[in-house]
Amino acid sequence: MMKTHFIPFENVDFKFCITICFAILLMTGILKKFFEIRKLPPGPWGYPFIGHLTLLGSNPAETFSKMAIQYGDVFFIRMGKWPTIVLNSRDAIDEALNKMPEIFSDRPKFYSNYAINKMKGLVFGEYSQRLRLHRKIANGVLQEFATSKSSPTEYLVRKEVDLLIKLWIQSRDNNFNPVHDIEMAVGAVMYQLLFGSEINCHSDQSFIDMVKNLKTINEGASAGSFVNMLPWIRFIMPSKVKKLLERLELNSKFAEKCISESLSSYDKNHQRGMVDGLISAANKYAEKEVHHDGITRHQIYSTIRDFIGAGIDTTSTTLQWTVLLLSIHTNIQDKMQKEIDNILGGRGPTLQDQGKLPYVEATILEVMRHGTIAPLNIPHSTSTDVKFRDFEIKKGTVVFCNIYGIFKDKNIWTDPDKFRPERFLTKDNTIIHERADIIATQFGVGRRRCIGDTLSKRELFLFITSIYQAMNTNLRSDPNYGRIITINCKPTPYKIQIIPRY
Ligand code: HEM
Repeated sequence: MMKTHFIPFENVDFKFCITICFAILLMTGILKKFFEIRKLPPGPWGYPFIGHLTLLGSNPAETFSKMAIQYGDVFFIRMGKWPTIVLNSRDAIDEALNKMPEIFSDRPKFYSNYAINKMKGLVFGEYSQRLRLHRKIANGVLQEFATSKSSPTEYLVRKEVDLLIKLWIQSRDNNFNPVHDIEMAVGAVMYQLLFGSEINCHSDQSFIDMVKNLKTINEGASAGSFVNMLPWIRFIMPSKVKKLLERLELNSKFAEKCISESLSSYDKNHQRGMVDGLISAANKYAEKEVHHDGITRHQIYSTIRDFIGAGIDTTSTTLQWTVLLLSIHTNIQDKMQKEIDNILGGRGPTLQDQGKLPYVEATILEVMRHGTIAPLNIPHSTSTDVKFRDFEIKKGTVVFCNIYGIFKDKNIWTDPDKFRPERFLTKDNTIIHERADIIATQFGVGRRRCIGDTLSKRELFLFITSIYQAMNTNLRSDPNYGRIITINCKPTPYKIQIIPRY
């Protein structure tokens, strides 16, 4: 009898086999994706490659607020290549940024963030031991030279606001755009805090360049967000990236020039301003070129760029909103002036007066709410995979805090579209602190919170009180609350008229 051999797969059709294998692979992929998606926060379906970019419109924060009605206070979208969660309530922001700070304090590895010092700087630096030391150094320098009792901030703001008032009363016609003058005045305060209060900077070419650079960088913001969201675009449109890199370079070059000039005349016994403070910190923390926490002299010096980049445009934009909103609502100027005249008499405001002018303070809070100059704060990112609420969020997910949504929430403010400082005051004319605390989120939440909030609040108080003590402003263009979204949200250009009070 012939022996029959068993040959495995002899009768199996190979084509059939391959089809089954593909089907299994496909099903596994789909199921995996399906379960992954189910663990993510809810959110709309997006397109391949671009994700939800086309949904965002001209005011992404407003779009997010509308999406939150459908998807809840934590939802998921894709910003081009970036998986993104949007936090739309104070609770959600608090749960993430305050309760899980080690995980939610990183910055996204956006192209522009990486182009700045390879994310080893301060504002756009990745969250690490090095960053914590960097923040401590920058905070120390700010406190010593800008917010301590002996710091020249009050003197400088009063000097610059006096110049501004004089300029407006004597040299501006009755129909002018105040933005450039405001930028110069706020820029001059920061410049002198950095390099020394003896400087008269208005005719100084470096100062003029610094303010000009800020404008140019702002104009490059849209190119930045484009390349950040769709990094592959740089292969198709290299000019976009070139433009972005050139603009980012402006501030770095300026900071380097300033450091080398300040180093050549540095005297540790006579420190002129924050730049000397940074040189002194570099001598202390990075004597051996690299500190054990990994910080270098160069990174400490680069803090100048952070102070210029984060500290001027923010305060100046808030002032621009103040002048616009008060020029529309002249009755609020009257109320402020009544309080200023009552409490200060004829003398100018000092920092000692902070807390004594509740109506002025309420007006500043209402300007910050209405203007919301940083509607999504600066984006954060997750540094590891994390279970947040019942969702599974991957490492490297971008995190937006929708402050705009909170500032326009009808459940909190009842009539959010109205400009009404009284909403921050009790019947006894004191500030409602729970409401002021909500506005404080404009400076961020958690471990990456703004370190310049005290300085900017002092500047705003002195600038606004002094300006409206001296004059009334009336709007000479159509009332327009429109927002221009660059790095910060600015008001659309407007014109005013000045009426001196004395
Ligand atoms: C009205 C004025 C200002 C507003 C609205 C503002 C707002 C902000 C916001 C939203 C952030 C990001 C917070 C986060 O990531 O959670 C931030 C960060 C920062 N701000 Fe401000 N800021 C203002 C003024 C200033 C000033 C005057 C300075 C300094 C001179 C400054 C220095 C910084 C720095 C260094 C950071 C980075 C902190 C970090 O990443 O760890 N800011 N600011």
